[in-house]
Parts: sequence; C-alpha cells; structure tokens
Amino acid sequence: MQETVKQQIKDLLKERNGILLAHNYMRDEVQEIADITGDSLALSQEAARTDKELIVFCGVHFMAESAAILAPDKTVLLPRLDAGCPMADMVTAEELLKFKARHPGAPVVTYVNSSADVKAVSDICCTSANAVRVVESLQDEEIIFAPDRNLGQYIARTSAKKFHFWDGYCPTHERLKAENVLKLKEDNPDALFVCHPECNPAVVALADHVCSTTGMYDYCRKSPATRFIIGTEAGILYRLRQENPGKEFIIASPALICPNMKLTSLEDILAALQTLQPVVTVPEEVRIPAKRALDRMLAVPRD
Ligand code: 13P
Ligand code: SF4
Repeated sequence: MQETVKQQIKDLLKERNGILLAHNYMRDEVQEIADITGDSLALSQEAARTDKELIVFCGVHFMAESAAILAPDKTVLLPRLDAGCPMADMVTAEELLKFKARHPGAPVVTYVNSSADVKAVSDICCTSANAVRVVESLQDEEIIFAPDRNLGQYIARTSAKKFHFWDGYCPTHERLKAENVLKLKEDNPDALFVCHPECNPAVVALADHVCSTTGMYDYCRKSPATRFIIGTEAGILYRLRQENPGKEFIIASPALICPNMKLTSLEDILAALQTLQPVVTVPEEVRIPAKRALDRMLAVPRD
C-alpha cells in the first residue's frame, strides 16, 4: 500500500514538474521519498534555486512561506496547512515593532522560524546554521533577536554585542532537561552529546557540539566517535542511522518529538499533488520586505 502511494507521488511529481523538499524532522517515509532533505537554510536555498514549477514543502508553515517568498513564480504546496510552529506563533509583527521602538537603532535579527509578517519588519533573517555569522556580519553593537531566546543566548555566548531577546522558545526542544542529559552521559561515558541551539542554555552548556540539524549529519559522520547522544527532534535519527551504520545514536529524551513536524503523511502529499492544494502564498506588500531580510541572510558569506 505504502509502496503504491510512493510510486503515485513520484509519478505526479514528474508529471507536474515538481520537487519534494523535506525537513530533517519529517517522518521517515517522507524523508525517504524526498528529492532533497535538509535544514531550514538548505531548504530555503533549494527553493530559491530550483527550476521546477511546483515545490511540495514537507515541513511547517513558516518554511513553505519562506519558499513562497523566495520563489514567487513557483507554486508552493504545504500538504498539511495545520502544520505550524508554536515558536513562530510567539511573536507578531505588531509586537516586534513595539519592542523595536524600545531599542531605537538596534537592527532586528529574526530566526527563520517566524511568520512572513514578522520577517517583513526585520532587518535580516538567520537560521541555526548561520546565526553566529549573520550577527557577526552586522556592524551594530546592539542587536534585537527574535523569537528564539535560546538560539539568541547561544549566539551571545561568543559575541561582544549587546542583545535584546524576544522571549520565545521551541516547546519541543525546551522539553529536554539538563538532568536527562546528565543521566545519559553518566550511563554512556563514551558517547558525545550533540545538540541543537534551540535547547535551553543549561542543556547547551553540556554539549560537545552545538549545530543545526544538517550540521549534525556532518559532525557525526566525520567524528571518530561511534556513540552519540542526540539533543534535537527525533526525526533526525532516520538519516543519522542510515548514513552511519556502524555508529549508535541515542535520543536524549523521548519527549523530543515535534507534533507539527509529524503531521504530514504520504497520503497528505499524494492528495496535495492530486488537487494542487493547499497553496501557500504571501501578499506582495509583505513578500518584498520579507524577501529583503531573507536575501540579506543568504548573502552573508560562508566561513
Ligand atoms: P534547522 O533545521 O535549521 O536546524 O531548524 C530546526 C527547527 O526547529 C526547524 O523547525
Ligand atoms: Fe517549531 Fe520546534 Fe517544531 Fe521546529 S521543532 S517546528 S521550532 S516547534
């Protein structure tokens, strides 16, 4: 049954000149059929560069919006319109503008986990993969960082700048507690602890390495270590295990499951391709300033 649905998806993608992009947290079977799996940065870059007419975005709403912002001539489908991001919902453009007025002159650096409206009132965006580089690319000594206070504090650890943090967070990563990690480290003294910067600072302080989801694939592949404790959403385990058959990956907590990232099924993808719905669009008056903030991020040179 699943094999038939997968084949139908592949056939329709071909017929409709489409590409299937999937975030690293998606269900295993969705990652398996994706043309590209990646972190938020890689997926937005792919959306910007693809010559396909149709982008089927398997992720959450803000990611499909980023694709629609960067590729306005393409049709962007989000198979589950109800796949949102609670962290992105923790700030509105209106609230951010009021916060900005309290810190005149400080540029707003906004994590891509935010709505198009919020991006539109931001100076520059960042992802977990480039946040440190983005902040360091700015001349300003004071920075407003929204919405993820944890990612903000992670950047601030290595920066001389003064930060004003929005008080948002990822409920999934926040469920991982330092005591979970300490217990696992005690039981597995040879394992390295790798975590995402969306984890709270007490957890990040225990990490051997902190990086984006794609950063974890690179780090675990290159590391001579063979056992890893993983501090991010459990969907990452699919590729980690597939790409490193001789290595062992232990999820740092069974609570590391993002319900929104788990919504999209193969049947949802098939239905989206059959009906060409739901389409994610961004009105031009929002898209243009939001694109400016994303383009500015994409122009920051790599190390
Ligand atoms: P990255 O894939 O950019 O590391 O982001 C993690 C995340 O929480 C996306 O929702
Ligand atoms: Fe949002 Fe966290 Fe889920 Fe990512 S893992 S979509 S940040 S709630």
